[in-house]
Amino acid sequence: ISTQAAIVGAGPAGLVLALLLQKEGIDCVVVERQSRAYVESRARAGLIEHQIVELLRKHGFSEGMDLNGVPHTTCEFRHGGRRYMIPYGDHVHASHFVYPQQFIVQDLLQLFISRGGIVFFSHPAVKIEGLESDRAVITCTSSENSVLKVECDFIAGCDGFQGLCRSSIPSTDTKIFSKQYGIGWLAILAEVPSSTKKLVYALHKSGFAGQMPRTSQITRYYLECPPNDQLSNWSDDRIWSELGKRLAVDGDENLIQGPIVEKRVLNMRSVVMEPMQYKRLFLAGDAAHIITPVGAKGMNLAISDADVLANALIHYFRSGDEVLLREYSHVCLPRVWKTQEFSDWMIRLIHSNADSDQNKDKDFSDRLRQVRLERLQQTDTYAKLFAESYVGLKQ
Ligand code: APR
Repeated sequence: ISTQAAIVGAGPAGLVLALLLQKEGIDCVVVERQSRAYVESRARAGLIEHQIVELLRKHGFSEGMDLNGVPHTTCEFRHGGRRYMIPYGDHVHASHFVYPQQFIVQDLLQLFISRGGIVFFSHPAVKIEGLESDRAVITCTSSENSVLKVECDFIAGCDGFQGLCRSSIPSTDTKIFSKQYGIGWLAILAEVPSSTKKLVYALHKSGFAGQMPRTSQITRYYLECPPNDQLSNWSDDRIWSELGKRLAVDGDENLIQGPIVEKRVLNMRSVVMEPMQYKRLFLAGDAAHIITPVGAKGMNLAISDADVLANALIHYFRSGDEVLLREYSHVCLPRVWKTQEFSDWMIRLIHSNADSDQNKDKDFSDRLRQVRLERLQQTDTYAKLFAESYVGLKQ
């Protein structure tokens, strides 16, 4: 088949891009490795930044979020048995939305397909050719071993960090920047209401613990652990006991225990590829950069890239002018790096282990963390700077 833009990957980046192009009458198709049921149930992020909320609303993609999402304006840090409430929304007159990523994916897919959009599910892209010629070709296979060839003017690589698109760019034409923090998070999904509606970041001597409400009945928890820790080390009993200890405040934490439905070990690392494009191929979202889950920015960056890429493609198909396409990386990367800097700052705030310095003194770091939390509470300009980055204002 032939199209103007072929999109690889039906995650948040690929689907927002597909909808924006469809809205402007640009012909596009999406190819996705997994089944529809799989992508619609994959639980991952869940915090939508203010500017992304506005973007989804502006384009009419926010019905589900507006109906079922929950606005958030305060987060809570815990340290040394004390709570530090940070009403970040008040500082910048903006709010986050908590709305699980799989619901966003469901909403976007439903909208795209109901408007006539085509998604080839269970069709992994296996080969990309012709990037240097007039038309590029993506070859996909399916479970029936049939082959689909998509010929297009441009490819949008929205296929996540393990995808094919990034590796189709010659390594001599790109530079990869990466950082390993030497920290792991055990990410837990539990079918329980959270003990408070706020996002909680607990800075404990045994390591960080986080409590992030997802819906009224589902909560995401995080426990800092070694980056290569084994799941077999984490029985449900140990998880609840460790959460209880690390989240305790004022000597008490009324943690609600219940079924744990998912656990994974995440390795805290960040990667950025520059530039995010090569000839007829443009990368968006995790395909171009990954960011630690600290600060919950991955999905937001992915949607922001999709918006920039959509504008560039729409401009090109209307006018034949390639200037915005040439500028794509230059427009996206400053935001990517500002977000990486914020995530790096927050990693140091919530972990005592984040420095590569072998002689780190945890007690020294602990005092610094306490001062940072006090400044967040007491110094307006400091709190405002945090709030702008955390809530995600256009900068
Ligand atoms: N062919 C087709 N599809 C592919 C291929 C391939 N070879 N490889 C990967 N995919 C699909 C994946 O199955 C997935 O559905 O690409 C999609 C990529 O989606 P995401 O991983 O969700 O990436 P993205 O859209 O960039 O979203 C950003 O950042 O912090 C995270 O949780 C956040 O998942 C979110 C991500």
